[in-house]
Amino acid sequence: MPYAHITGWGMAVPQKVLTNDDLSKFVDTNDKWIREMTGIHERHIAGEGETSATLGTDAAYEAIKMAGILPTELDLIICSTSSPEHIFPATACLIQDKLGASNAGAFDLSAACSGFIYAINMGAQAIKSGSVKTVLIIGTETLSRFVDWKDRSTCILFGDGAGAFVLQASDKPGGIMGCVMHSDGSGGEFLSVPAGGSAHPASEITLHTGQHFIHMNGKEVFRFATRVMAQATIEATTKSGWKEEELALIIPHQANLRIIEAAARGLKMPMDKFMVNLDRYGNTSTASIPIATVEAVASGRLKAGDKVVFVGFGAGLTWGALAAEWSGPVPSDHFIKPEWFRPWARLRSILRRILRILDGIFFGRGA
Ligand code: ACO
Repeated sequence: MPYAHITGWGMAVPQKVLTNDDLSKFVDTNDKWIREMTGIHERHIAGEGETSATLGTDAAYEAIKMAGILPTELDLIICSTSSPEHIFPATACLIQDKLGASNAGAFDLSAACSGFIYAINMGAQAIKSGSVKTVLIIGTETLSRFVDWKDRSTCILFGDGAGAFVLQASDKPGGIMGCVMHSDGSGGEFLSVPAGGSAHPASEITLHTGQHFIHMNGKEVFRFATRVMAQATIEATTKSGWKEEELALIIPHQANLRIIEAAARGLKMPMDKFMVNLDRYGNTSTASIPIATVEAVASGRLKAGDKVVFVGFGAGLTWGALAAEWSGPVPSDHFIKPEWFRPWARLRSILRRILRILDGIFFGRGA
């Protein structure tokens, strides 16, 4: 059975930064409250033309460049997102087109902030089964588009961004190890976007009552998160045959510093074992774990051979943890750089559209 290694990683965030002081100019809040209650100082917010697909594509190009592969080598693209471009088509397919990943299947996965963990596990299992060799995992969010900017209990929390991993098959032991995935739909109402789906299709009423925005019971989510983070970390570590003391780093979902501190207390581990960067990005939902990973590697806190656990929780309710032996980049002998594919992918997409029109004209459209 092949192993699934993380051989590429990348991130992308919008340029625009919104500080706590900026927020306090249009909503009744202040920097002191936000810092003390959440640990967040600022977040990045998508501007015009920036969407979950564009951010996801930018992060994906970084990851495939790091892995030293070409977009055409991808067999599968899994995009975890709670802020997809549309109900359908899948954001994964839009990214597939922007990458020119002409040999890849693509689908979205919806498990909120736990989604990146679920998606890595799905990709790794597809590799381990022998069904595919190279998988791109993307976590991308523009939750700023679903936030009620008048609701101070939610709008201070979220930021936009994307992260991506490339997983590759290898005979070398290591890479993705134990994973646990949990859910409890009985807590679904604690964190939701009530309208816009089939239960409450968009209407004048849903719009006027703000049902298309994120609704959250912060206290319940907080209680749930502090309960499950340490437990899931222990489960994934044990499933990998490791002990908690062997872990070089834990990369938790970046929702609230107080939740991460509670997980550290639960695990009886010092805070320096935890990667924290939510002060600069806020809660980027499913993108928070890959963004924190990219920064952990860049700052030298995560090195080849290290044992790491990713742990997250989110709407659903969902939670999970995944253990991995960090692989590091593999040397590549490719001359063509993956980012050179960007204009080719655009041209390819235009040509395919033209061909479809010509096909319709010359070979008929009717049944
Ligand atoms: N600025 C100033 N005051 C505020 C703000 C604000 N932004 N928001 C609330 N307050 C006030 C409240 O009105 C309240 O005042 P009162 O005591 O006079 O009534 C007081 O601060 C306490 O408010 P609570 O909402 O009770 O504060 P709480 O301790 O629950 O903290 C928080 C709120 C930070 C949101 C916390 O509940 C939390 O972090 N929950 C977890 C949320 C989370 O992680 N969500 C993402 C999940 S991941 C996903 O799936 C997307």
